[in-house]
Amino acid sequence: MARLVKRTATGPYKVEVGAETKFICGCGLSKNQPFCDGTHKTTARTEDAAKLFWYDVDGNRHECAEDYPGIRSA
Ligand code: FES
Repeated sequence: MARLVKRTATGPYKVEVGAETKFICGCGLSKNQPFCDGTHKTTARTEDAAKLFWYDVDGNRHECAEDYPGIRSA
């Protein structure tokens, strides 16, 4: 089974638990879910906000060729 999950965050969410600070992945690309592993830094800088992308299991980016009304964020 496959799922299409829309993520528009370009960085992590900072969460403080007691004295600890954790960064939860907001972009969906971390290989250390649910925690941020820094992958967002390489993707967010080079993505065009007007385009829609999907990422394969190896983290390779692909641009969607078709228009998906209601899915694009820009
Ligand atoms: S927010 Fe996803 S890797 Fe950092």
